[in-house]
Amino acid sequence: MHAARQREYLAALGIELWQPRVAGGATAPAPAAPAQPDPSGGEWETLRREVRECRRCALHTTRTNGVFGVGPLRTDWLVIGEAPGAEEDRRGEPFVGAAGQLLDAMLRAIGLDRGSNVYIANVLKSRPPHNRDPKPEEVSACLPFLVRQIALLQPKIMLAVGRIAAQNLLATDAPLARLRGRVHRFGDTPLVVTYHPAYLLRTPGDKRKAWEDLKFARNVYQQLLQGVPADGHRA
Ligand code: URA
Repeated sequence: MHAARQREYLAALGIELWQPRVAGGATAPAPAAPAQPDPSGGEWETLRREVRECRRCALHTTRTNGVFGVGPLRTDWLVIGEAPGAEEDRRGEPFVGAAGQLLDAMLRAIGLDRGSNVYIANVLKSRPPHNRDPKPEEVSACLPFLVRQIALLQPKIMLAVGRIAAQNLLATDAPLARLRGRVHRFGDTPLVVTYHPAYLLRTPGDKRKAWEDLKFARNVYQQLLQGVPADGHRA
């Protein structure tokens, strides 16, 4: 049976999906970001340096690393989370802790991999102390970096993971439950919303709903490739 089809069957049966991968009893390390040619003629590198050196908000005093983003610089998919956690702050790469391992497994289930075909970034580039929610002034200071990343990447579809990312990208305070299951827009780009993997680690019973969101996003993308307008709700 095709692996993807098998995962769908397993999901339909409610069988645990997306167990974090453990190699030899130890947590598998995140792959190092491969050196890539900059298709923008240097703008990515400029932006990366600005993030590294950023002092636009107080978070620069407590962070270890500004966490820029990871993935191919030409790709159709962009996944956006909230802010770096402790492990991301230490390593300078988004989603490399426990939630990141679950995110990778979720993305693999729809054929996406940060090493080849999905870019991953956060609304905030610096870790809020003790992983508290971002403050509005921190989001205002940092969002322009993400907007520039989106302009350079020009993704065909965006997936916002979690309430904080979704609400800030869509400029709404609607609850996540109301934002799931339909196609939004960020500028011209279709945007689908799902749960944050850290929430799913705490609430595994909602993984099935997250799987519905991922299949929805994959369908929206496939329709886009066929020229079908990406609007509407999940059937
Ligand atoms: N949670 C996020 O939203 N982003 C990360 O990079 C890590 C955890």
